[in-house]
Amino acid sequence: MMNFGSKASKLEVVGDKVADLNVTVDGTIMRTKDVGVRYNETYKALRDVSLNFDRGQVTALIGPSGCGKSTYLRCLNLMNREIPHCHIDGEIYFHGKQINFKDVNVYDLRTQVGMVFQTPNPFRKSIYDNIAFGLKKHGIKDKAYIDETVERSLKQAALWDEVKDKLKKSAYALSGGQRQRLCIARTLSLNPEIVLMDEPCSALDPIATRAIERTILSIASRGIAVIIVTHNIEQARRVSDKTAYFYLGEMVETGDTSKIFTNPDDQRTADYLDGRFG
Ligand SMILES: Nc1ncnc2c1ncn2[C@@H]1O[C@H](COP(=O)(O)OP(=O)(O)OP(=O)(O)O)[C@@H](O)[C@H]1O
Ligand SMILES: [Mg+2]
Repeated sequence: MMNFGSKASKLEVVGDKVADLNVTVDGTIMRTKDVGVRYNETYKALRDVSLNFDRGQVTALIGPSGCGKSTYLRCLNLMNREIPHCHIDGEIYFHGKQINFKDVNVYDLRTQVGMVFQTPNPFRKSIYDNIAFGLKKHGIKDKAYIDETVERSLKQAALWDEVKDKLKKSAYALSGGQRQRLCIARTLSLNPEIVLMDEPCSALDPIATRAIERTILSIASRGIAVIIVTHNIEQARRVSDKTAYFYLGEMVETGDTSKIFTNPDDQRTADYLDGRFG
């Protein structure tokens, strides 16, 4: 087994502002404090969002269109940096180290905080190479290790049984749901601690959706923190331990999913969950 080393220590946080809040003690891997996002300097898409994410837990981010869910998710692996004129305020901590500084190595961060997108986006390569390619890009050459990792990640993504006899076939020969599980396997092959998913089932039918949901529960049971944006309220109820409700750029309320769904504190959350808007 290849040693990836201490994941937290791979982050190079430069400067004297590094804060060590020792947040891993209680299982929290990542947290944000008063995170806001501005597009084009003036437009505040998100205000003061503070959330904690724990090892092995699934958190659902829900709320009506345009309320800032994707904007928030993209803060957690600094994807917003790729958007011109997007500015993040507040503090984002990964293993107690503040990551929203200029000098953080985003390549390492995005390995440890992987992302699965709305539309399955496999490479135009074989099923095997979709996973092997990323490993090779990370400097891994050991064929036995690559073979083992391809199998392990496809099993973890609950795709192995369906593809084990056609690993050399094109990923484009797979169905939409299988492609999405391949993308999840590709992310898992790099041993992430957190997997971010932005509406991963919105392009899938109910059967493929349930397969992804089982995969989410299975990867969380291995200790990975999963943070999923979903428009599907029933999906949030089925897969998540914690729910955070967003509305108009604010995180209105968060808590255990069972509590949020049965007895929310805020009327706006109750109205959304009752289907009164959104
Ligand atoms: N690249 C961008 N440039 C400028 N404004 C943006 C950009 N991306 C998002 N916004 C704005 O930020 C606000 C929040 O958008 P965001 O995509 O985060 O919402 P969302 O909750 O994910 O919505 P949806 O459910 O429709 O995906 C919206 O008003 C949107 O128009
Ligand atoms: Mg979105």
